[in-house]
Amino acid sequence: MKTEILKLKKEKNAVILAHYYAPSDVQEIADYVGDSFYLAKIAKSIEADIIVFCGVRFMGESAKILNSNKKVLVPNLTADCPMAHMVAEGKIAEMRRQYDDLAVVCYINSTAELKCQSDVCVTSSNAVRIVKALENKNIFFIPDKNLGSFVAKQVPEKNIIINDGFCPVHAKITAEQIAKEKEKHPDALVLTHPECEKEVLDISDFIGSTAEIISYAGSAAEKEFIICTEEGVSCRLIGDNPDKKFFFPESCPCCTDMKLNSLKTVLDVLRNEANEITVDEEICRRAMLPLDKMLELAR
Ligand code: 13P
Ligand code: SF4
Repeated sequence: MKTEILKLKKEKNAVILAHYYAPSDVQEIADYVGDSFYLAKIAKSIEADIIVFCGVRFMGESAKILNSNKKVLVPNLTADCPMAHMVAEGKIAEMRRQYDDLAVVCYINSTAELKCQSDVCVTSSNAVRIVKALENKNIFFIPDKNLGSFVAKQVPEKNIIINDGFCPVHAKITAEQIAKEKEKHPDALVLTHPECEKEVLDISDFIGSTAEIISYAGSAAEKEFIICTEEGVSCRLIGDNPDKKFFFPESCPCCTDMKLNSLKTVLDVLRNEANEITVDEEICRRAMLPLDKMLELAR
């Protein structure tokens, strides 16, 4: 399958993008592997005719919005992020009525429709920097309550109103599970994604996006780490650091949507040019504004 994918990729002038949570064999055949921010930047600059995005729906959708002349294919159209939908109908309009100077800050893990109603997008690697850079005092952070609270703690000078969405995968990780791992590996550093619950963030040594966790583990002098994010990052962590040990909480967080990407589904979509992401022209135009603003402010 790998040989066939590489052949088709060349024939059709396609590139494959994969998130760190995609299965390891998919990461291996991808041209670019990274966190959400890196992949959004890459998607915008791609010149090939076809982008195959091995992630979840909002990632393929963002690639289409940022580079709308390209054909964006996803291995499985049902691979979605539940958190992307977790903003109650009418909530944004209600918040805008309450605050004149409100900035709606939208985690990229969101539907295109939510992006259309937002002022700026962020990812887990740039949210603090971008919120700090905004002139607005009042911020409505959607959809993730955990990333929102993490940002609020880092930017106390702003009034950050937090929506109540969450990632069901990261929510499974508990402080008790970390304490158990710490008992077994007392020297291990706890590296955590900001989508985890506050109790987990509070006992972590480092908080960052998937790419930041990978980079931190690579450059740290320590040899053991407890990793509080989806297990797909282990592929890169182990590959880059054969002399280090990585432990996951016993709930072993696994995003079943990300795992819908497989060599077979990549091959199928490349062969048939199936599962194309389409975004209504007007939605595309409006959703591009907060995405472009993110790229500009994060620069
Ligand atoms: P990052 O890619 O920003 O680390 O976010 C993780 C995630 O949950 C993507 O869905
Ligand atoms: Fe969404 Fe969580 Fe899966 Fe990321 S890990 S895609 S936030 S469900």
